Amino acid sequence: MSWQRIRVRDWGGPEVLQIEQLDDLPSPGPGEALVRVRAAGVGYTDTIVRRGKYIDYKDGLPVTPGYDLAGEVVALGPDTQGPAPGTPVCDMPMYGSYSKYVIRPAQDLVPVPSGVVAADAVQVPLMLMTAYQMLTREVDFPKGSWVLVVGASGSVGRALVKLAVERGLKVVGTASARNLGAVEELGATAIDYERPDLVKTIRAASGGGVLAAFDAIGGVSWKTSWKALRRSGKLVGYGLQGYLESGAGSLNAISSFARLLAIYPLLGKLSGKSTSFYNILQRRWKLPEEYREDAVAVLDLLASGTIAPDPVEVLPLSAAPEAHRRIAAGGLEARLVLDPGA
Ligand SMILES: NC(=O)c1ccc[n+]([C@@H]2O[C@H](COP(=O)([O-])OP(=O)(O)OC[C@H]3O[C@@H](n4cnc5c(N)ncnc54)[C@H](OP(=O)(O)O)[C@@H]3O)[C@@H](O)[C@H]2O)c1
Repeated sequence: MSWQRIRVRDWGGPEVLQIEQLDDLPSPGPGEALVRVRAAGVGYTDTIVRRGKYIDYKDGLPVTPGYDLAGEVVALGPDTQGPAPGTPVCDMPMYGSYSKYVIRPAQDLVPVPSGVVAADAVQVPLMLMTAYQMLTREVDFPKGSWVLVVGASGSVGRALVKLAVERGLKVVGTASARNLGAVEELGATAIDYERPDLVKTIRAASGGGVLAAFDAIGGVSWKTSWKALRRSGKLVGYGLQGYLESGAGSLNAISSFARLLAIYPLLGKLSGKSTSFYNILQRRWKLPEEYREDAVAVLDLLASGTIAPDPVEVLPLSAAPEAHRRIAAGGLEARLVLDPGA
């Protein structure tokens, strides 16, 4: 039985995403499940893996990218407890989802409730979970508090805005000028991140400053977010996209982290402000049961219609290079999803 996956043999541009044809289905071992992938999310993080710049990926080449997936269990390995064959599931393998079949630890698979299709369920393991855990595990503020979502037009940014609004928080979201309308539609006050008076504008829009800022850009952006906080506010960093895209040396990233995790907390002793860095992988490795519990809660929010999934554009596996080019170009109005069986 012939099937396909994407294989990267050299780090590089989207052209390194090449189709590989395979003949035999892999067999799950003890503790494992064979999963048929129905939807593999395509996101910014996959483009960092493809370039060989993803700090948490250490397995080298060749690699099949694909951070998150939704599909169904085909078979369980011998003596394995897990969702029965046929059960729809989702998971966050970090890499490997651009493939019609994957082998996964059975205990990592989270069952997807009926009514949630694969292209929507795949928005949970990384995008919605990152947003949900930052809002519920990193900060704890009363309803009506103002929060800042930097990059509110992006995948995680949109998830943050939707979940924050659902939790009764008030949101200021930054985006490029072309995406301001989309951010407003989600219920946030949208501000162009290229404004010269950004700190002042955010503080004015939030009645004197925000109680939390979520920022994956880093560097100058973390400085802006820090200044936009009111007393006892918290800056939650979760990425260094600005550093990765500028091509700056790693010293730049180290000094950015030092400011976030050492210098700002020192300054915060006076103002009561604090910081943290959120990493979904490390948190899941440490607290797998908490990840599962939160994923079930987020899937329920989707199943009940409490939050709406982002619009989706489904593409075949062969369109992976095009999908990565479109992610890099920005301005997408839908989440890109690969259907490896299409
Ligand atoms: N730590 C974790 O656990 C974790 C988990 C998931 C993702 N991440 C990280 O989160 C980041 C975002 O991922 P994503 O998939 O949401 O990416 P994405 O969809 O590409 O979104 C990026 C967002 O950043 C905005 N942006 C670009 N330059 C900016 C600037 N100078 N100032 C403010 N905003 C700017 C973009 O706005 P426009 O498009 O309007 O320009 C867009 O809203 C990545 O770095 C990713 O690695 C971390």
